[in-house]
Amino acid sequence: MRRILVTGRGGQLATGLETSLPAQGFEAFLVGQPDFEFDKPETVRAAFAAARPDAVVNCAAWTAVDAAEDDEPGAFRANALGPALLAGLCAAAGIPLIQVSTDCVYDGLKGEPYHESDLPHPVSVYGRTKLAGEWAALAGNPMTTVLRTAWVFSPIGRNFVRTMLAVGAQRPELRVVADQHGHPTAAPDLADAIAAILARTRETGWRAEYHGVFHAVAQGATTWHAFAEAIFVAAQPFGGPRPVVRPIATQDYPVKATRPADGRLELGKLHATFGVTLPPWQDGLTRVISALHQAERS
Ligand SMILES: NC(=O)c1ccc[n+]([C@@H]2O[C@H](COP(=O)([O-])OP(=O)(O)OC[C@H]3O[C@@H](n4cnc5c(N)ncnc54)[C@H](OP(=O)(O)O)[C@@H]3O)[C@@H](O)[C@H]2O)c1
Repeated sequence: MRRILVTGRGGQLATGLETSLPAQGFEAFLVGQPDFEFDKPETVRAAFAAARPDAVVNCAAWTAVDAAEDDEPGAFRANALGPALLAGLCAAAGIPLIQVSTDCVYDGLKGEPYHESDLPHPVSVYGRTKLAGEWAALAGNPMTTVLRTAWVFSPIGRNFVRTMLAVGAQRPELRVVADQHGHPTAAPDLADAIAAILARTRETGWRAEYHGVFHAVAQGATTWHAFAEAIFVAAQPFGGPRPVVRPIATQDYPVKATRPADGRLELGKLHATFGVTLPPWQDGLTRVISALHQAERS
């Protein structure tokens, strides 16, 4: 196993894989829009044929959670029909597919960390379409590993860390939701974990237990409010802003799509199967803040 096709070239996770895959001895073959567009299936087939991959990591997705509420067919095409097409191509080629999914497949009402065997119950269009993508990927290819991740942030793109630093530089006081729980996950850490999963697969050959759903988030859960405070503390050494962060309730910050109130996840299955564990979210935050600072200096 050598060449890995990575979809969603301009995105947070694909960008991380551009570094993580070569570090494990893989060649990363990245594809993105407009050359790779789920709404134009012929571009997907052409990209696959050109890459001749040994495995695929599907990072491409409709990730605008609120906008998805207004265009379910569009989100479904990207998040469900896209993975279905990729799974068929992978099955025909006899190669593994890593399908990246989300904690939004859960309703967040369990009251304790979810296990992979818990019944999903998405409460948003995004969550529904991503769950359909999981099923399509699993049903369409017998060599599919679904990774459910959450609260992804990185030095690039639209994410909570960059938003907080930008808004915090403009306002002395911010109001941030304090009653939603989840696992902030640094895209570079998730990319390292995916590269390690592929390295394990290369080493052992495909095993039946690799087919299925796995939680893949940073260790430790927190709230958006506590995460925001940690962001400003971590940015202090680099001259970052230090606004007051007031806790508010979900109902005080209305958005279109409902998020799981408690998206805490059990993490043992990924380690038991692949020997892979992501670092604590605080380490991921330090990594991303340092990378942001480096980027500003160069
Ligand atoms: N961001 C989060 O907080 C979060 C949380 C849980 C799970 N996830 C999942 O993690 C994965 C990676 O997320 P991310 O944060 O890296 O996302 P991201 O930064 O939004 O990147 C997603 C990429 O998908 C591509 N894309 C969007 N619509 C497409 C379409 N119709 N056809 C082809 N490509 C399309 C775009 O690629 P181009 O640059 O090529 O246009 C975009 O850059 C996704 O599966 C997402 O659902 C993310």
